[in-house]
Amino acid sequence: MTNQTQLPLLEVQELRKWFQMSKGLLQRQAVFVKAVDDVSIHVQAGETLGIVGESGSGKTTLGRCISRLYQPTSGQITMRVNGEVLDVSALSGKELSAFRKRAQMIFQDPYSSLNPRMTVLETVGEPLLVNHLAKGKELEERVTEIVVQVGLRVEHLRRYPHSFSGGQRQRIGIARAMVVNPQLVVADEPVSALDVSIQAQILNLLQDLQERYDLTYLFISHAMNVVRYVSDRIAVMYAGKLVELGPTQELLSNPKHPYSEALLASVPKPSQRKRGMRLVSPGEPPDLTNLPTGCVFVPRCKYAVDQCTEQFPELRKIGTNAYVSCHLAESLALQGI
Ligand SMILES: Nc1ncnc2c1ncn2[C@@H]1O[C@H](COP(=O)(O)OP(=O)(O)OP(=O)(O)O)[C@@H](O)[C@H]1O
Ligand code: SF4
Ligand SMILES: [Mg+2]
Repeated sequence: MTNQTQLPLLEVQELRKWFQMSKGLLQRQAVFVKAVDDVSIHVQAGETLGIVGESGSGKTTLGRCISRLYQPTSGQITMRVNGEVLDVSALSGKELSAFRKRAQMIFQDPYSSLNPRMTVLETVGEPLLVNHLAKGKELEERVTEIVVQVGLRVEHLRRYPHSFSGGQRQRIGIARAMVVNPQLVVADEPVSALDVSIQAQILNLLQDLQERYDLTYLFISHAMNVVRYVSDRIAVMYAGKLVELGPTQELLSNPKHPYSEALLASVPKPSQRKRGMRLVSPGEPPDLTNLPTGCVFVPRCKYAVDQCTEQFPELRKIGTNAYVSCHLAESLALQGI
C-alpha cells in the first residue's frame, strides 16, 4: 500500500495527444484523432496504477506519452528523480535517452516484440549496450542475474525466441525492461496475449519484481478482471478521457461513473466464465475526430439527462481520494461487484 499524502513520483497534467489524419475527398481535410485529451493523473512511488478502458480508449497512447515514446501534443509530465523534479514532457537528446532508462515499457505481444534473430543474451543485453551501461563480461553477468530473477535459466541465454513459449517470451520482455534498473514501468496489456493459466504466473512475477526493486507500475489492460488484482488505484479511460479514478476496492464496490459500472458488469462471474465475455455496454465509442460537446458517454449512458448533452462534465473530486467526470455522480446508486 502506498501513502497518498507523499509527493507523487509521476505527475501528468492536462495531457493531450492528438494524431493528425487526412479525411474527405482526395484526403485534403486535416482532422485530429484525440487519442488522449486532457488527462491529469499522479502516481505515488511504489504504487500500481491500473489503467482500464475498452479498445481505442487511449490507454496505450497515454502509456507511450509517459514513457516518452511519443511526444505529447500538449500538457506536462513530471517525474521526481533523486529529489529533483524532471520535466519529462520537455526532454530531448541525451536527457531523453537518460530518462528512457528510468521509465521502461513492457508490451502486449511477446511474439512480435522480440527480434527472432537475437538470442536472449543479445535481446536483454541490448539496452545496456546502447546506453553504454555495460559490455563484455559485466554485461553477461547483469543479464544472467536478471534472466534468472524473471524465472528463466542460464542455459536459455544462447537460445532464440522461437524456442520459447508465450509465457517465457514475456519473461524475456520483462528482463529486457528490468535490466536497466527502471523506476517506473509501463506494462501495456502484459498478459492479454497469454493463456489464462500463464497469466497469474506473469502477474506474480511483476509483483515480486515490484517488491524487490521498489518499482512503480502503470498497468494497462482492457480487462477489469486483471487490473483489479494488481492495482492500488484504478483509472478508467473512455474515448481519450479519464472518467473515473479511485482506490481499487472503492471503485469496485462503489463505482461513481456509469461507464465504470458497465465495465464491472462485464467482469464474468465464475458461473459465466465458460460462456465468454459479455459486452461492456451497448453502442459504439464515439468518433475521436468529432467528439460531442457534452459528456462523451451520452449515446451509451442509460442515465443521461438533458444536461449531459449540453455540458461537458469536468473531472472533479468525490470523496477522499476519488475523482469522477459525471454530472450525476452523487445521485446515482451504481452497481459494483
Ligand atoms: N499513431 C496513430 N495515428 C493515428 N491514430 C492513432 C495512432 N495511435 C493510436 N491512434 C488512435 O488513437 C485511439 C486510441 O488508441 P490507443 O491505441 O491508445 O487505444 P487503447 O486504449 O490502447 O486500445 P487497445 O485496447 O485496442 O490497445 C484509437 O482511435 C487509435 O486508432
Ligand atoms: S454525465 Fe450524464 S451521460 Fe455522462 S456518464 Fe454521467 S449521467 Fe451518463
Ligand atoms: Mg493499447
